[in-house]
Amino acid sequence: MSDIELAVIGGTGLYKLAELQDVQTLEPDTRFGRASGPIRVGTLDGHRVAFLARHGEGHSVPPHKVNYRANLAALQAIGARRVLALNTVGGITERFGPRVLACPDQIIDYTWGRISTLCEEGGEVLHVDMGEPYTPALRNAVLRAAAAAGVAMVDGGCYGATQGPRLETRAEIARMRRDGCDLVGMTGMPEAGLARELSLDYACLAIVANWAAGAGPQVDEVITLQDVLDNVAAATGQLPALLAALLEA
Ligand code: HPA
Repeated sequence: MSDIELAVIGGTGLYKLAELQDVQTLEPDTRFGRASGPIRVGTLDGHRVAFLARHGEGHSVPPHKVNYRANLAALQAIGARRVLALNTVGGITERFGPRVLACPDQIIDYTWGRISTLCEEGGEVLHVDMGEPYTPALRNAVLRAAAAAGVAMVDGGCYGATQGPRLETRAEIARMRRDGCDLVGMTGMPEAGLARELSLDYACLAIVANWAAGAGPQVDEVITLQDVLDNVAAATGQLPALLAALLEA
């Protein structure tokens, strides 16, 4: 199975890659338990691609209950070395309005109580470098693919990972803005740190679904799930072209 060129983890509103062909379903057991759901492996424009829905295909696993370790270990077990994480997020700063696609280059972890390391059960203690939390080569490949496919994408930005599943208060978002966050989501961590511990290449493609609380032109706007899903659906129309360009590179 080591011929898998790319593994994609889908977030909220992204439960399958409809373009995958000749799909095989794999459910590997890992030392951390089972992944959120089956891994669908197939071909995309002749390239072998694996897809896993982070919250399960029926979106039954909330962000704080995702078994991030099992998800990544399962992808690694089937031979994936490069992981592109799709994360639905809220936008905090000006450049990150609804339907924007972004490839962030930094992350701040505000989550708590999640198993965030492989070093829980004894064994070797890892202190992996996280100065660049996303693999530069994969980030650059995603950005080049976007340019080649004519897909507008913001290069960079800081992702703030919150605990969820509730959305943030305006004061929390104001604090995150002061901290330097451009985007807010609930699943960026511990996934990025675990990917580094597992020596997987890992980059994030953030899909902005809404203005974060108080961040948009209408300060008291209420964020609805329907808006989130509509904006994700609109923004991900460009995903097949982007993935095709990434796989061709
Ligand atoms: N906050 C946190 N996570 C999110 C948001 C948000 O506003 N939108 C989509 N995921």
